[in-house]
Amino acid sequence: MELDDPEPGPGEVLVRVHAAAVNFPDVLLVADRYQVSVPLPFTPGSEFAGTVTALGPGVTGPRVGTPVAGAVMTGAFAEQVVVPVTGLRPVPEGLDMVHAAAFHVTYATAYHALVTVGQGRAGEWVAVLGAAGGVGSATVDVANRLGLRVVAAASSRERLEVARGLGAEAGVDYVHEDLKTGLREATGGDGVHLAVDPVGGDHAEAALRALRRGGRFVTVGYADGRIPRIPLNLVLLKDAVVRGFEIRMLRRYAPQAVAEGDRALARMVEDGMRPLVSRVHPLAEVAAALIDVVDRRTTGKVVVEMTGGA
Ligand SMILES: NC(=O)c1ccc[n+]([C@@H]2O[C@H](COP(=O)([O-])OP(=O)(O)OC[C@H]3O[C@@H](n4cnc5c(N)ncnc54)[C@H](OP(=O)(O)O)[C@@H]3O)[C@@H](O)[C@H]2O)c1
Repeated sequence: MELDDPEPGPGEVLVRVHAAAVNFPDVLLVADRYQVSVPLPFTPGSEFAGTVTALGPGVTGPRVGTPVAGAVMTGAFAEQVVVPVTGLRPVPEGLDMVHAAAFHVTYATAYHALVTVGQGRAGEWVAVLGAAGGVGSATVDVANRLGLRVVAAASSRERLEVARGLGAEAGVDYVHEDLKTGLREATGGDGVHLAVDPVGGDHAEAALRALRRGGRFVTVGYADGRIPRIPLNLVLLKDAVVRGFEIRMLRRYAPQAVAEGDRALARMVEDGMRPLVSRVHPLAEVAAALIDVVDRRTTGKVVVEMTGGA
């Protein structure tokens, strides 16, 4: 659909979008199943990489032509997007536009779930649920680079192979195997020190039951669609710590942790870390890209490229 060129207002910047990654909340917003409703009509798309093309009144930088990445609630599946200048970040050195669009949300979530909130340390076992998905694959990748030992959990052998390719040492197919037993067996019977869960549903309780004494469970999302209700005595009996992580809250309340995370992730990118992009669609196929994510057919990230696709 053709719209007039948008104009940046005070404090805003106009960006020519080169690529935008699909994130699970894009799907939920389109289905009106997200935490907030967006009035119709709207253009979906929340995470993008592109080039600054105009500055709104009072904005002094970044200069026109600067490559930037950023996140908005909606509007990124388009050739141009208007963004508050505070929502922009530099493109990490070494990432092209497709990988830059696919990087920040999942990798920052992975880092902070593992480190800032999960307190993960090298040598510890971490269970990563939905390990072939966007957040899951990033969490496997970052955990492996931090020296944690990963047990991946996913819905098929093929998806576990994807996680193994990113450094998972063991895997549990939670559709065909008992998750709690599989996680315990993978760790020699003791259970995991940490679990990172972007899936929810029945898998959450099974992963919590697979924690060793004093273990930490980080709830990150509910791709399953069902929000788990956990018996609190499990937390008591295991002396466990259950914590939530939400990327926007962290940005608001812990800017120093955000800055530390950005530096750590930039170093990993320098060392060659790249988000797993399994598919790039042209803008005309954005609906197919969203449906693939809903139907659980994707691994890593799916990206929409404004100038074509492969
Ligand atoms: N807290 C935060 O700050 C934050 C940040 C980013 C994302 N999130 C949330 O984290 C969750 C995962 O996001 P994502 O980007 O990783 O999504 P994704 O790429 O679609 O991955 C989700 C994974 O969940 C598994 N899954 C299990 N049941 C599913 C179902 N009924 N439908 C779809 N997938 C299902 C799938 O793996 P298997 O088929 O292998 O089970 C899938 O790969 C979402 O709820 C998202 O909103 C939270």
